Amino acid sequence: MKDQLTKLKDQAVKEFKKSNVLDDLKKLQTKYLGRKGELTKVLRQVKDLAEAERPKIGQYANQIKGELEVLIKDIEYELKQKSGAQKEELIDVTLPGTKYQQGHLHPNTIVQRQLEEVFKNMGFMVLEGPELESEYYNFEALNIPPSHPARDIQDTFYIKNKPGLLMRAHTSNQQVRAIEKYGVPLRAVFPGRVFRNEATDASHETTFYQLEGLMIDKDISVTHLIASMKAMLKGILKKDVEVRLRPGYFPFVEPGFEVDVSCLICGGQGCSVCKQTGWVEMVGSGLVHPNVIKAGGLDSKEWSGFAFGLGLTRLVMLKYGIDDIRLLQSGDLRFLNQF
Ligand code: DAH
Repeated sequence: MKDQLTKLKDQAVKEFKKSNVLDDLKKLQTKYLGRKGELTKVLRQVKDLAEAERPKIGQYANQIKGELEVLIKDIEYELKQKSGAQKEELIDVTLPGTKYQQGHLHPNTIVQRQLEEVFKNMGFMVLEGPELESEYYNFEALNIPPSHPARDIQDTFYIKNKPGLLMRAHTSNQQVRAIEKYGVPLRAVFPGRVFRNEATDASHETTFYQLEGLMIDKDISVTHLIASMKAMLKGILKKDVEVRLRPGYFPFVEPGFEVDVSCLICGGQGCSVCKQTGWVEMVGSGLVHPNVIKAGGLDSKEWSGFAFGLGLTRLVMLKYGIDDIRLLQSGDLRFLNQF
């Protein structure tokens, strides 16, 4: 009986291999392995064998059955592939999938959002405003009349054939807009992109980011300003950094200050980012000038406030040790993938 089984198997294998359409294969499968198939018939006879033979032959017959089933699957796969039919049936769901590259937030955005959190926790609103701005909100409302030399330092891009329109040179454009829209008392920060007509180098770009802050209330003093600056820098740099306050001139504050932070890139030794001084100008600030309060339609005797403009891009560079501002807008993945 063993020989009979071997012969049957050889014959089946030969016939299976010859089939070159699926239908033939199915027919052959029925012929040998179906309910009334050749092999099935033999398997049925096993029970009539002598007891000593039964297990051996039974095992052999089952082994052949298994081998034939595997062979059928293989031939079936090949035939399906050849015919290219029903591709979806051929998908092997156990194969690992294609990995899609997932993006992530730009370092500017990461730091901007962290700053927003710090200020939201102190009761500030977060507001956005237009990048294409009127000369009025960018300059005049901020106590910078047309002939003022401060317009030179903040030279920006003007719009051809559209007098009075420019790309905002700072986020301070939001100050009077916010007072007009939300009234007082007011606490708000304005993050955003700003523009300057600059020659670019490691620390200058034509396009960069700032975060402006404005608080208008009664009896606001420099103390409020300093406390807010400290909370901001600590909240974002997560360590106590050395800070230096210098008098600084900005037409929209009186008195005005520059807040410098010791350069974290070179540890105060001097490098291209800190222009070899060991300090990085990070924030311009001061008490809001009465003319700005008036431009917001308020009585400057009743209301006072502080304002600051943080160089968001500078802060990002300091926080992550980036020594060339141009990398931030380069779109270079070798740079961006590090964050
Ligand atoms: N707008 C200024 C600049 O871009 C920065 C600034 C200075 C903002 C002092 C302020 C401020 O709110 O009080 O250089």
